[in-house]
Amino acid sequence: MTKLSILVSSLLLASSASATLWPIPAHYEQGDKPIWLSPDVKLEFGGTTSGSKKVLDAWGRTKDALFKTNIVPWQFHPKGTQFEPTPNSGTTIKKVIISQTGKDVDAPTYENLKEAYNLTIPASSDTVYIDAETSLGVMHGLTTLQQLFYASQSKKAGGAVWGKGPVTIVDEPKFKHRGLNLDVSRQWYPKETIMKVIDTLAFNKMNRLHLHATDSQSWPLEIPAMPELSQKGAYRPDLTYTPADLQQILDFAEARGIQVIVEIDMPGHTTSIADSHPDLIVGRNIQPNWDTYAAQPPSGSLKLNNKNVESFLSKLFRDLLPRLNKHTKYFHTGGDEINANVYALDPGVGSNDKTKIQPYLQKFSNHVQSELARQKMSPFVWEEMLNDWNITLPKETIVQVWQTDEAAQKATEKGFRVIQGNYNFWYLDCGQGQWLDFGGPAFKKFYPFADYCSPRKNWRLIYSYSPTQFLTEAQAKLVLGGEVHIWSEQIDSQSIDMMLWPRGSAAAEVLWSGRTDANGNNRTFADATPRLAEMRERMVARGVRATPVTQLWCLSHPHACELNT
Ligand SMILES: *[C@@H]1O[C@H](CO)[C@@H](O)[C@H](O)[C@H]1NC(C)=O
Ligand SMILES: *[C@@H]1O[C@H](CO)[C@@H](O)[C@H](O)[C@H]1NC(C)=O
Ligand SMILES: *[C@@H]1O[C@H](CO)[C@@H](O)[C@H](O)[C@H]1NC(C)=O
Repeated sequence: MTKLSILVSSLLLASSASATLWPIPAHYEQGDKPIWLSPDVKLEFGGTTSGSKKVLDAWGRTKDALFKTNIVPWQFHPKGTQFEPTPNSGTTIKKVIISQTGKDVDAPTYENLKEAYNLTIPASSDTVYIDAETSLGVMHGLTTLQQLFYASQSKKAGGAVWGKGPVTIVDEPKFKHRGLNLDVSRQWYPKETIMKVIDTLAFNKMNRLHLHATDSQSWPLEIPAMPELSQKGAYRPDLTYTPADLQQILDFAEARGIQVIVEIDMPGHTTSIADSHPDLIVGRNIQPNWDTYAAQPPSGSLKLNNKNVESFLSKLFRDLLPRLNKHTKYFHTGGDEINANVYALDPGVGSNDKTKIQPYLQKFSNHVQSELARQKMSPFVWEEMLNDWNITLPKETIVQVWQTDEAAQKATEKGFRVIQGNYNFWYLDCGQGQWLDFGGPAFKKFYPFADYCSPRKNWRLIYSYSPTQFLTEAQAKLVLGGEVHIWSEQIDSQSIDMMLWPRGSAAAEVLWSGRTDANGNNRTFADATPRLAEMRERMVARGVRATPVTQLWCLSHPHACELNT
């Protein structure tokens, strides 16, 4: 072969690449025959099921994605190549047949969560088949369908859409819990932003939004039984989430297969309660040495060994939990970064000795857990409750690990299920520098003002993390999944898209497809880059300001941007 013919054949190879799904399905085969999607494509139902509202709405969104916000994948082909099939070649898809074989369960638990689906486009067929037991599986199948087609360059406005077939996909997630932890207390996010995040999570086949709803800085969550909490605790009386807002968020999420798990962090991270209930908080906003009493200003914690705190919590939970438990059987009771010094100031404790504080924290935890049990909900807690404070927890408790792999080992050793998301890998807020204003000796000490978890976690690092790393097989069985984290000290609705995407997508594939492929090998960046870059383009087309994955040049020159020595 001449150099020229090698070049030509490699161009042909590049231009015949099939769809590039993200996250990659468990089993995925695709041919190279052109298929077109008719603008009149019809939905039909196979078997005994007819379409639920959830599935019909998902179909509506799928048609929008296919015909209105689809992409022309020019970036992924060498300049000047004709990558689109010629009109009238191949077959035309006229219908999508969905067969849901089982009934949906309301607010599924991890025990009865079913998300598997199959998607098939047989050779020379005019039909896409999506089979699944539940609507969650159907929705994942429809999300995959959106990625199998591209907008036509020539007739973009006319809605012509093409792909390659035949297609055989047998798919299910590796992990049951695939989430984002979003802090809406440090900054307030409009509900529209939260819903856009939810929609993009679902597009990435994530299934959990952990809403870190309150913290020391603000209390945006309206509690009708105690309206003063948000009236005084929010940044502004209107920067809140009304019960109707919360309901809208829960419904919007549920329609997309996402459970919202609300967290009220406690007993630390609660000073905003003092804006309306000063007697319940010890060590409120101590200055200037706030750092003796808390990880961040304003300092302050819920008092322990205190009847008024207990009745406050009962009132809070009996208002909030019945509004949540139709949608999820889980609630996050927090428990991170409890400061021992602040309890020396607490009349009910009077000591900063952790072993003296422990029995009171146990009593506090028992009270919280009894309120959850009343509403038939199971708790999430941050790892410290178990590992640092030795709190005896209900055995169904799910422990959220954020600090070390060792913490996951300890929690699973004790038989608890865990959610992973070590800050060295999956904290998306890291690497922006400090938000404190340093003066005096602190200026020198903290120069050049890197934050505690810097540098920024790039998508390749996020992608290289495995939620089961350094765990034995038995320990790994207790890993339900993981979360990426957006702590909002320096992120708000103006910047969240760029902070979250496509780095959140990198975690989404680890959680759906696993860190390793079917042969047990680590997935490679070379394989991930073109697929993630295409996913990024699809997110941008949907109005998400996701950042680039690599240079454009690398996208049109497959394998030219590798360094393997
Ligand atoms: C999907 O296909 C696999 C393999 O053929 C089969 O075992 C499974 O039952 C199918 N699932 C559904 C929901 O049809
Ligand atoms: C928890 O248990 C460990 C190991 O027994 C012990 O070292 C630690 O002091 C205990 N912590 C508290 C707060 O009781
Ligand atoms: C696979 O990735 C893990 C991190 O997820 C890493 O510890 C391990 O060394 C990698 N294995 C190989 C063979 O590169």
